[in-house]
Amino acid sequence: MTTATHLRDKFAVVTGASTGIGAAIAERLAASGAHLVLVARSAGKLDETAERLSRRHGVTVRTVPLDLAAADAPTRLAKTLADEGIEVELLVNNAGVSSRGPALDGDPARFRSLIDVNVTALTELTTLLVPAMVARGHGAVVNIASTGGYIPSPYLAVYSATKAFVVSFTQALWAETRGTGVRVVAVSPGPTKTPMNARGTRSPEAVAATVVRALAGTGPAVIDGKANALTAFVFGRLLPTRLVLAIARRIMARGGD
Ligand SMILES: NC(=O)c1ccc[n+]([C@@H]2O[C@H](COP(=O)([O-])OP(=O)(O)OC[C@H]3O[C@@H](n4cnc5c(N)ncnc54)[C@H](OP(=O)(O)O)[C@@H]3O)[C@@H](O)[C@H]2O)c1
Repeated sequence: MTTATHLRDKFAVVTGASTGIGAAIAERLAASGAHLVLVARSAGKLDETAERLSRRHGVTVRTVPLDLAAADAPTRLAKTLADEGIEVELLVNNAGVSSRGPALDGDPARFRSLIDVNVTALTELTTLLVPAMVARGHGAVVNIASTGGYIPSPYLAVYSATKAFVVSFTQALWAETRGTGVRVVAVSPGPTKTPMNARGTRSPEAVAATVVRALAGTGPAVIDGKANALTAFVFGRLLPTRLVLAIARRIMARGGD
């Protein structure tokens, strides 16, 4: 089990920490006494967050401005951490990009970049950083998925497919790492009010609290919020796929989440 208390004076890496859910997770971890490595493209926003968190919580915060869509980004981040002797106790793969609109109208290059961030970087960072945790017998990785990973989402087709990957990959890795002392869990927010989703109803702080609770749990996947969990269960498990797709198409065509 990994709790927030276990993270005191240990390093947590949070990707996509410049804003939204990632910034809220970083704040929550810093409040628990964790030192942080914050990753995103916006160097200025990362530095502002780092300065605020270290002043408020007295923790060390290192920023690594990086485009995770770049093919060498995960290895560069792993090398930076190794060169600086940073032992990663917690990896939060939170960085993500969305894709709204009909899939067939989408820009293939944009889809590639989205998949590189949501899937490739997440997978590579996990496989680069988690083996050391397994060797030590402690550590954790939280992969931020989405309720869209449980329900195919017309007009968010590529995005929700990447999140289905995150849920599936993380659950399988959870099984592979049973008994190693390493906590592996997928956390799925539903619509959350951030720069990605102005119509979101949950707060990033609520999702961050769910992440901390998920760390202390034992299961392979957690959904943020009771209503989101019910929606994922009913639409993802109970109802026939054709009906789910018909309903989802109507909701998403109206610009819903
Ligand atoms: N908001 C929702 O309704 C919702 C629902 C379900 C799941 N989620 C998931 O929650 C996670 C956080 O989403 P959010 O709502 O907080 O989104 P957000 O406010 O748009 O933040 C996304 C974060 O990812 C970073 N990022 C994006 N592209 C990147 C790249 N190429 N390289 C490095 N960092 C990159 C962004 O920083 P820079 O722009 O500075 O690079 C930012 O820090 C995502 O995985 C998202 O899919 C969100």
